[in-house]
Amino acid sequence: MILQILAVSCLAFFANAQIDVNSCTDYNTTVDKCNTDNTIDGGNPLTWASVGMFYSLPGNVYCSAANKGNFMKATECIQKAYIACGKNDFHKFVSSVDGIKGGVEYYCNNYEDFDMNCISELQMCAKNKAPADQTMPTMDDEFNKNRDYYCGHAEHLGECINSNDKLKNCAKNKTMEIIMKIAEELFPPACDATSFVISSVLLLVSLFITL
Ligand SMILES: *[C@@H]1O[C@H](CO)[C@@H](O)[C@H](O)[C@H]1NC(C)=O
Ligand SMILES: *[C@@H]1O[C@H](CO)[C@@H](O)[C@H](O)[C@H]1NC(C)=O
Repeated sequence: MILQILAVSCLAFFANAQIDVNSCTDYNTTVDKCNTDNTIDGGNPLTWASVGMFYSLPGNVYCSAANKGNFMKATECIQKAYIACGKNDFHKFVSSVDGIKGGVEYYCNNYEDFDMNCISELQMCAKNKAPADQTMPTMDDEFNKNRDYYCGHAEHLGECINSNDKLKNCAKNKTMEIIMKIAEELFPPACDATSFVISSVLLLVSLFITL
């Protein structure tokens, strides 16, 4: 399970950007409480890494009738703790608490039609679209530098979702629509979603045409 989480940790799209939880004193205690208050039968306690990629957790376990409510509450609780560790406005570059909540609910209602393997190239695709000399900013960098980095990434990801062949050819053919909806939920509040929403509208139109 730990290996699985490490293997896919590069797939967290927006939720875990630049907030430094290691120097945030109450964070671990709060996360522990989020987990003990909302235990998942047959699942593992959640961390900031697994909340950022909730769509990689097995839906048949985490979204079962018995667990779904706690899964939603635990992810929401951890995202809130994570955001609280951010400085100034920097939480706007990570997914909002409502976004995580909406994303988890959507995933739980659709996981049977979703194949995680089909999105394995997206993060690299988005990375390759970034300027070669771009370095990852920190909370100490100015707002604009972070905005260029994270909002650029978000837009590139939207382009990749629409154009990646592996995803297009996914045998579970609703995977593309599902990851687009999830990415929309997780879209960082600081970024202008216009182009992203336009590309997802185009995607839905093109799905409609192929039906
Ligand atoms: C929080 O937990 C992580 C992982 O268990 C650990 O590496 C880190 O040092 C802890 N941070 C604090 C501030 O206690
Ligand atoms: C999607 O997959 C389902 C089940 O495999 C199939 O019945 C359907 O025709 C496919 N739809 C498209 C648009 O390819």
